[in-house]
Amino acid sequence: MKIIPYGRQWVDASDIREVIKVLKSDWLTQGPKIKEFEDALCKYTGAKYAVAVSSGTAALHIACLAAGIKSGDEVITSPITFVASANSILYCGGTPVFADIQKDTVNIDPEEIRKKISPNTKAIIPVHFAGHPCDLEEISLIAQKHNLLVIEDAAHALGAEYKNTKIGSCKYSDMAIFSFHPVKSITTGEGGTILTNNEEIFKKLLIFRNHGIAKEKAELMNKNEGPWFYEMQELGFNYRITDIQATLGISQLKKINSFISDRREIAKFYNKSFKGNNYFDIPVEREYVFSAYHLYPIRVKDKFKVQKKEIFNKMRDSGLGIQVHYIPVYLQPFYKKLGYKIKICPKAEDFYEKEISIPMYPSLKDTQIKFVVKEILKIFKNYE
Ligand SMILES: Cc1ncc(COP(=O)(O)O)c(C=O)c1O
Repeated sequence: MKIIPYGRQWVDASDIREVIKVLKSDWLTQGPKIKEFEDALCKYTGAKYAVAVSSGTAALHIACLAAGIKSGDEVITSPITFVASANSILYCGGTPVFADIQKDTVNIDPEEIRKKISPNTKAIIPVHFAGHPCDLEEISLIAQKHNLLVIEDAAHALGAEYKNTKIGSCKYSDMAIFSFHPVKSITTGEGGTILTNNEEIFKKLLIFRNHGIAKEKAELMNKNEGPWFYEMQELGFNYRITDIQATLGISQLKKINSFISDRREIAKFYNKSFKGNNYFDIPVEREYVFSAYHLYPIRVKDKFKVQKKEIFNKMRDSGLGIQVHYIPVYLQPFYKKLGYKIKICPKAEDFYEKEISIPMYPSLKDTQIKFVVKEILKIFKNYE
């Protein structure tokens, strides 16, 4: 039986043609395609600067470094996210502080952020869960009031809009990061980027991406050594993206509008098919946002909570490659070892017990979408 996954890439002949051209060119990495990809990302989002890197995780890591996160600093983030959002804080020696979610959007709740602010708070990492933007205006006001930086984890949200502004524009934040993993809005295999409007942050990001090394004369401490000269000014990393990946990204970005509109069409069909059902709740889209629908997370009603595992297994058995997004980060053994306790965020834990991500990706065929709807309703009907 061929499984229908919860998400997957769409790579076509034009993407493959472009990648082949790069493979035959002089530059496999550190060549012109990286800047071209970064320029295209800036043009699309409206941000001034982009730094493309090897993954969304690398993007988060150097975003936190550029924000100056260090030992003793607290950073507030959501528990309903991939572990990378919080791990990036730990990489810098900082302490992740988890603020509970809003019940409808599943995004970090600004009210809960307010409760978690301490004299040690340095930044907020809101995560646009499933491609639905967070309340950025409110988060930005909190940040201004308490002198905090905002790093948007927009791994799910390339193509989304908040109050008619593209996510990634950084209108309400200091930085935003995207991931280009195959299940995301566009793919480069592995890959990611940081967007910012702040030139100083941009320069730091460039240095952290490449071993902490500066080469441009204007950036050097010793300016007159010679044309070979480079200086390692920080402890950086090799987080470079290749020209092969960047080319795929350029080609994919040209198709972003149709990718997102396909996702939204599928969401519309699911919404219509599942409206008013007695088994599970469907995702909401607030009227001032335009969701990228990275995921379509359903939540079983309270009465089905105890049977969720069984229902999940039945769905898998019927060929649906469903998944659960996410286990609250602080419930992971590593975080428990650090001292995080159960019930820090009760709404997040309740969400985890109910959530199932059903197939959502642009190349899903009509017959597959109808099959998904039919199978899910059939499985729940057996539990009535
Ligand atoms: C919310 C979130 N943040 C960060 C990441 C990390 O991105 P990557 O897999 O490109 O390192 C992911 C990836 O799944 C994610 O879902």
